Amino acid sequence: IVLATSVVVASFSGLAVKADDTEVTTNWTREQVSKIELNQDNTLPYTDISELEKFTPDHHVWDSWPLTDRDGNIASIKGWKVLFALSAPNDVLPGKVHDIATIRYFYSKNGKDWTLGGTLFPEGASLGSREWAGSAMTDDGKIHAFYTATGHRGEAPLTFEQRLAMATGDIIADSNGVRFENWGDHKVILEPDGNYYQTKEQAQQGEGGGYAFRDPMWFKDPITEKEYILFEGNSGGAVGDRTFKQEYAGSSKYASENPVPAGAVHANGNIGIAEVVDGDPSNLKMLAPLMEANYVNEELERPHIIVKDKKYYLFTDTHINKYAEGLQGPEGLYGFVSDTLIGGYEPLNESGLVLANPPENPYQAYSWLVLPNLNVVGFAHFGDLGDMSIGDVGNQSPEFQFSHFGGTLPPTVKLSIKGDTTKIVKEFSPGWIK
Ligand code: FRU
Repeated sequence: IVLATSVVVASFSGLAVKADDTEVTTNWTREQVSKIELNQDNTLPYTDISELEKFTPDHHVWDSWPLTDRDGNIASIKGWKVLFALSAPNDVLPGKVHDIATIRYFYSKNGKDWTLGGTLFPEGASLGSREWAGSAMTDDGKIHAFYTATGHRGEAPLTFEQRLAMATGDIIADSNGVRFENWGDHKVILEPDGNYYQTKEQAQQGEGGGYAFRDPMWFKDPITEKEYILFEGNSGGAVGDRTFKQEYAGSSKYASENPVPAGAVHANGNIGIAEVVDGDPSNLKMLAPLMEANYVNEELERPHIIVKDKKYYLFTDTHINKYAEGLQGPEGLYGFVSDTLIGGYEPLNESGLVLANPPENPYQAYSWLVLPNLNVVGFAHFGDLGDMSIGDVGNQSPEFQFSHFGGTLPPTVKLSIKGDTTKIVKEFSPGWIK
């Protein structure tokens, strides 16, 4: 995207180069996406989800994340692991769950058998009309809980404004389990600026396409010790302000041989980053996006980074129907590698595809999160959806919705990573946080 304050003056091989010559934002290009291929290294085994024991009997659960320490390792609180998940009572129509999403938490000694602790926040405390995905880290007996405040508390009808929010509380743990107390004020810690990141108003101008400003993910860089929040955004500006650039397509050869359909302008997903100032997680300095998928993809969800062998591995999830016109890719986990945190990301496995659902059940699972030991967690629907799109959930009969949709946790899978290639190497029991 051309920014008002820092003009893009040159570009090559998928990198946006700013006037001061700092390589900042990597493009995920149409050329890279055109190399997506499902194979045995990236395709998840078929799971008969209807045979899975439901993760928690009374709730649908979907996006989940474990409590980590400040460095990003899975935390152990007096021997307990803690897992957070978006949830809704299971008598709510699955097509409606996002409208009343609430973060609940679970604790476990072995990381396999989870006990529901309750809602993360007391009733009425969080800032949105519903809570969407986030992350949580502990330091010095406190929990810093990051979440997406979607809409505004008490509103009717529901709106979709998304803001990054957080609250800090005390963690109390004993032999009976874990709970959270003494929450401080809930604060909005970041909102889109309209320049790097699209605002809701810009998204509503013209036929906007995607709008996201969500999924705050804590990240401490083990090499520089600097701290950040990553998040899902869209490139700034309204659809009418966007102009196509060759670097969105890829090489000049690819660009000349593959004209871009006009409708691709609606795709402007990006991965945002903000730096934590003075060690205070609520004090953030917004930075230029780590990655943009302009004319490529509309939603780069739940971005997160794992550092391995001094390389930065950036992961994100996206859906089949979020690709720009003329491109195809599966519901999947995608990844990129760079020697530096900012700039220089190359797609893993050439295209970026790391994990895909099996073609016979393309909506089997979603919202994958790679843990530091390269185990990957996600969520699955109760029944085999065949090729029915998630967007069709709300159009189905209540009986069908209840028997097929709504989330539980699928088998955890282990990835191996060598340089810029990945492989699924193992499947573990459902929802296992090792
Ligand atoms: C991914 C996601 C997140 C969002 C949540 C809302 O599954 O779209 O980006 O926070 O679902 O339910």
